[in-house]
Amino acid sequence: MARRPTKALVVGSGAREHALAWALAQSRQVEEVVASPGNPGIGEVARLVPAMSPADLVAYARKEGALVVVGPEDPLAEGLADRLREEGLLVVGPGQRGAQLESSKRFAKEVMRELGVPTASATVLTSPEALAQAIETTPRWPMVVKQSGLAQGKGVRILFTPEEARALLEEWRSQRRWFEEGLLWEDFLLGRELSVEVFTNGREYVWLPPAVDHKRLTEDPASPNTGGMGAYAPVPWLDPATQTAIDRRILQPVVGYLRERGIDYRGVLYAGLMITEEGPWVLEFNVRFGDPEAEAVLPLLADDLYEWLYALAAGEPLPPAVNLKPEVAVAVVLASQGYPSAPVVGRPIHIGRRVEGTLIFHAGTERAKGQLVSRGGRVLTVVATDRDFALARRRAYEQVRAIQLEGGQFRVDIAQFGVEQPQVANPGQGA
Ligand code: AMP
Ligand code: GLY
Repeated sequence: MARRPTKALVVGSGAREHALAWALAQSRQVEEVVASPGNPGIGEVARLVPAMSPADLVAYARKEGALVVVGPEDPLAEGLADRLREEGLLVVGPGQRGAQLESSKRFAKEVMRELGVPTASATVLTSPEALAQAIETTPRWPMVVKQSGLAQGKGVRILFTPEEARALLEEWRSQRRWFEEGLLWEDFLLGRELSVEVFTNGREYVWLPPAVDHKRLTEDPASPNTGGMGAYAPVPWLDPATQTAIDRRILQPVVGYLRERGIDYRGVLYAGLMITEEGPWVLEFNVRFGDPEAEAVLPLLADDLYEWLYALAAGEPLPPAVNLKPEVAVAVVLASQGYPSAPVVGRPIHIGRRVEGTLIFHAGTERAKGQLVSRGGRVLTVVATDRDFALARRRAYEQVRAIQLEGGQFRVDIAQFGVEQPQVANPGQGA
């Protein structure tokens, strides 16, 4: 058998990729971590190379003999993992067929319907007229409308009233491609959100610590959806019966489907769930680590991440479980002013005092004239690990508050148990 690669090439430039590069840099089996294109934070733990076309990436990975770890969904949806695998390279990330679980919400719904996996019922709408009719005839609100294709977390709207829905129709009416791909008109689910990530080789799977993301911009449940404003892991309120239901009703059938269909899936499968009174229901699948979930989860691993990623890429049998540190993690995202609609970028970032027991993962940052400045909506993810959530929260927020970024926004309630509310019901709902 060929020797294991001693280089790891991380594709991507967000805080998730920083966490991956950071974890790989600690492996004794990895001599060098390379990131394409990375960011200034990743540059502290990896050698940065520019963004590359798929063809160049294949050539580069072959020349370097690197294990390739694809962070974001877009290159997977475009078939990057297939191309690398066709060339005999080791890559973590599903091929295009498996990536459809994320890149086509319509496909994912059909798979779930076929398997009987619990998920909100949805109708596919392929024209503005069909959406108009759905709005005028739906018997209850809220309803949820979703673009089927990848939309950077911006393709989902919760509509509380017919007026809101009609305004959305006007806003989206001219988006021909969204209608061609099919909009999902979906029932609203009430409950608590949970992110479950598993390592899978397409035959068997192993849980990573479950996590909770915070999708709304602020504590106000009616504030806009974002890519995720913070996460904690593991999840103290997740009971064993729910965990078993997630295995039996969701993960086993879906991984079974991949196996039976011969879908080459090697990487992370992420199930975005709503834990309702009737148990776990699927909101969405992602085919990569969550962001910010990865930033909270990866620092909890006691195992060498490279061992897992190599086993996945090589399609080897997986160990029975992930070994974890006896700690919890709290990840707080610092976002730009104006995020998510119109982030203000180019502002200086001063990290200030470093708080012990914290990590700072970079997302939208760059260096301009020697100064670290903001480059995107989500700028940094600050992570603290500790024995319990109160301690981890204190450290994480102490570090966030030490960072200066004019207009920076962050949520103050990450892992603040007891105050956390389930999602609001329709404020305008009668009975
Ligand atoms: P998604 O990209 O499908 O995960 O949707 C983004 C966010 O919208 C989720 O994290 C939920 O907060 C919310 N959401 C999506 N679908 C539903 C649903 N059927 N009921 C309630 N909230 C939902
Ligand atoms: N945190 C949600 C996602 O990664 O899609």
